[in-house]
Amino acid sequence: MSGFKVAVVGATGNVGREMLAILAERRFPVSEVVALASSQSIGREVSFGDKTLKCKALENYDFSGTDICLMSAGGAVAKEWSPRIGAQGCVVIDNSSAWRMDPDVPLVVPEVNAEAAKTFSRKYIIANPNCSTAQLVVALKPLHERARIKRVVVATYQSVSGAGKEAMDELFQQTRAVFVSDPVEPKKFPKRIAFNLIPHIDVFMDDGSTKEEWKMVAETKKILDPRIKLTATCVRVPVFISHSEAVNVEFESPLSADEAREILREAPGCLVIDRREPGGYITPHEAAGEDATYISRIRDDPTVDNGINMWVVSDNLRKGAALNAIQIAEVLADRGWLKPKPTGA
Ligand SMILES: NC(=O)c1ccc[n+]([C@@H]2O[C@H](COP(=O)([O-])OP(=O)(O)OC[C@H]3O[C@@H](n4cnc5c(N)ncnc54)[C@H](OP(=O)(O)O)[C@@H]3O)[C@@H](O)[C@H]2O)c1
Repeated sequence: MSGFKVAVVGATGNVGREMLAILAERRFPVSEVVALASSQSIGREVSFGDKTLKCKALENYDFSGTDICLMSAGGAVAKEWSPRIGAQGCVVIDNSSAWRMDPDVPLVVPEVNAEAAKTFSRKYIIANPNCSTAQLVVALKPLHERARIKRVVVATYQSVSGAGKEAMDELFQQTRAVFVSDPVEPKKFPKRIAFNLIPHIDVFMDDGSTKEEWKMVAETKKILDPRIKLTATCVRVPVFISHSEAVNVEFESPLSADEAREILREAPGCLVIDRREPGGYITPHEAAGEDATYISRIRDDPTVDNGINMWVVSDNLRKGAALNAIQIAEVLADRGWLKPKPTGA
C-alpha cells in the first residue's frame, strides 16, 4: 500500500509527541509526516522514529494534500480547525472533547466499535474518547457481550499528564518545593497536587458532578451501549503517567469473577495480571509506556446479584489518547475506508 501523508497537530505536546513515537513504532504506512503546533513553536524540533522534524504553524498549513490529521491541541483549536481541515478531504482524528457527542461524528475505540469509524465521511472528523473512558470500555466490552452490564460504579485515580505538559511540570515543581521548604503554588490545578489528591477534574456541572465524570457516562453510552447506567467519581492523583480505575460492575446475567478473568484474558487490548499475593497486580508506574489495558484484583461483589469488582490501569497518553487515535487510522487504512490522495493533489 502506498503511504498516507499524516499531519500531527499539537506535536510539541504530551499526546502529540506520543503520537509521533507510536506512528514510527507501529510502522503506520506514511509517505510523509508533518509536525504542526502553534506559531510560537515554528522551527522547534520533535522526534519521529530516528528522524527529526521541524514544527510548522497550524495556521499557515494547507491540508489539501494531507490524508490524516491527528489532532491533540485542545478543544478550542479542534472546534475551529477540524471542520476546515475536514472540508479539504483530510480526516481529522481529534483527541479533545469538542466533537465527541456530535451525532455526525463517530466516537471510536477500535476494540469496541471499530465499525463506527466508517461513518467518518459525514464530517471527515472522528473523535477519540476521554482517556478514562477509553480504558474502561476496553475492559467492559467483552464482559457486556457475555452477561449484559446493568450498572457501573467507577472511581478514577488520574495522573497529571492527563492535564498536559504544564501539569506534569507543576507536580514536579511542587514536589521539589516541598522537599526544599519553598512555598507551594497551585497554578494549573485548583489545589496543591504534590503529596495530595484532588476530587475535581474539568468544570462543575449543575448537578454537582464534574464534566470529567459526565464524559465517562455519556461516552460509555455512545461507544458501548446507551442502556448502561454509569456513575463516576474522578480524582487527580500525584502520579505522572497512567490512569487507574476501581470499577464495580453489575450484570443482568450471572457472571463470576473467575469467568470474568477468563473472558478478559482473551479480550483484545486487555492484559490480566491478577495474582492474590503482594505485588500480584498492576500499578500505574508499570503501565506507563505500555499499550495494554491492564486488569487486576478481579473479585466477586457479594453485596449485589451478579456483581464483580476490578482494578483497571492503562497509560493515558497511549491507549487514552495517542495509541487509540493511531489504531483508528489503522482501521481506516486496513479496511480500505480511506485511500491516500494521489500525489500532487
Ligand atoms: N493527556 C492526556 O491524557 C489526554 C488524553 C486524551 C485527550 N487529551 C487531549 O489531547 C489534547 C492535548 O493534550 P496534551 O496533554 O498533549 O496537551 P499539552 O501537552 O499541553 O500540548 C498541547 C499542544 O497543543 C498545541 N497548541 C496549543 N495551541 C495551539 C494552536 N493555537 N495551534 C496549534 N497548536 C496549538 C501546543 O503547541 P505549542 O507547544 O506550540 O503551544 C502543544 O503541542 C487536549 O485536547 C487533551 O484534552 C489528552
